[in-house]
Amino acid sequence: PKASKAKISQLTEWRSKRVRVSGWVHRLRQQKDITFLTLRDGTGYLQAVLSGTVNQTYEALTLTMESTVELTGLLQTVPEGKTAPGGHELTVDYWKVLGAAPGADDAFTNRLNEKSDPSILADLRHLVIRGETASSVLRLRAGLLDAFRQTYAKHSCLEVTPPCLVQTMVEGGATLFQLNYYGEPAFLTQSSQLYLETCLPSLGDVFCFQESFRAENSHTRRHLAEYTHLEGELAFITFDDLMAHIEAIICESVDILLANPEMTTIIKQLNPNFTAPARPFLRLSYADAIAWLNEHGIKHPEEDAEGNVIKDENGKEKMVEHRIGDDIAEAAERQMTDIIGKPIFLHSFPAELKAFYMKKIPGQTGKVVFTESCDLLMPNVGEIVGGSMRIADYDELIAAYKREGIDPTNYYWYTDQRKYGTCEHGGYGLGVERLLAWLANRYTVRECALYPRWPGRAKP
Ligand code: 4AD
Ligand code: MG
Repeated sequence: PKASKAKISQLTEWRSKRVRVSGWVHRLRQQKDITFLTLRDGTGYLQAVLSGTVNQTYEALTLTMESTVELTGLLQTVPEGKTAPGGHELTVDYWKVLGAAPGADDAFTNRLNEKSDPSILADLRHLVIRGETASSVLRLRAGLLDAFRQTYAKHSCLEVTPPCLVQTMVEGGATLFQLNYYGEPAFLTQSSQLYLETCLPSLGDVFCFQESFRAENSHTRRHLAEYTHLEGELAFITFDDLMAHIEAIICESVDILLANPEMTTIIKQLNPNFTAPARPFLRLSYADAIAWLNEHGIKHPEEDAEGNVIKDENGKEKMVEHRIGDDIAEAAERQMTDIIGKPIFLHSFPAELKAFYMKKIPGQTGKVVFTESCDLLMPNVGEIVGGSMRIADYDELIAAYKREGIDPTNYYWYTDQRKYGTCEHGGYGLGVERLLAWLANRYTVRECALYPRWPGRAKP
């Protein structure tokens, strides 16, 4: 009788039995009469041995890397002293090729090695994801999303799925992708925050995983044009509650991952030095961070009133100390996180630097007005979360539209939240690829998306 079919991850049940497995030829090593093959089916890897007797068919000639094959044989525990994925090995007595691949001579697969030009690797992303590192990152990504969902359930937050096509901006007009929507202007969403805020009176605390789009002309290792945005919104909280919640969501989700043997193996492979971060995270106000940067001699290029970097006659940037009101640029932020070496909650940014909806710290009289806002910075990556308390007061919101030059017409539904039973509330957005870059120790967020998009790149 034909042997039963199984997935590689389930093979332990099939020890000492005949079984049939389909997958892709991941590795191939031919010795005289015997072929060692590593089969990959997406759930794991299986070592298989094909002896001379089964190799006598024409198909032996077409056994190449990345071909799809079906292998049938006896699954045997590997003898002591030998290792194999799963601790077993398939002694194949029957096999067939389901779909041949061109093999090692193929120019396509030949170019697929770690040293390849990044733009070639980007073009071949559909084949790169078959590799061990890329597939481990994607598997960890799936585990992470699952862990977040479990954590949110414990915190009584409900998942919603807001739209991608919108007619309002959240994080400023400069990074909007505009499109023609049946003759009307519309945008690809930058953030689902405003929609999540409308869910509070309906569903209570909510979260979403939604793609966000940023038309930033940034070619940095942490910017994508499209990224997966995890956003949460909570009602009847204080600013301290918000920071404690963000910390809990991240740490509890990491703990769930670390309790899963498959995930710990992947994390160990990708990031051998990973340790779960200690709680509570360091809290550092923006004003203290400015002082810290100056104490550590970290300067930034001077800018003119329009925000253009000033250069001397030799084209050299003039480096100056940070002052209150200055944006802490990516370079300075990175140096700070690298020196401090642990997660930092940077909080209370000047309103000038932040988005229109952020609540101001009550009772301020100084010239610079600070907000109840926070960014979570991680070593090697920088900002992974941006959050704030929101303006709850109707008049204050109208004034904020005005200050930012926003036409309130399209925001009528958002403004209504302040009319029909307002409340103190706040929320945050987390860049999934950035968190993953931290967790899996990847150099760039481009390694952390299935098909990453950045300026000039929208394929495959
Ligand atoms: O700081 P941002 O712009 O905040 C918001 O969009 C808020 N409306 C979120 C909210 O409160 N609901 O973005 C939040 C996070 C950043 O901290 C970063 O991790 C990620 O989104 N992010 C990006 N990730 C990859 N590529 C980009 N271009 C990103 N822009 C933001
Ligand atoms: Mg931000």
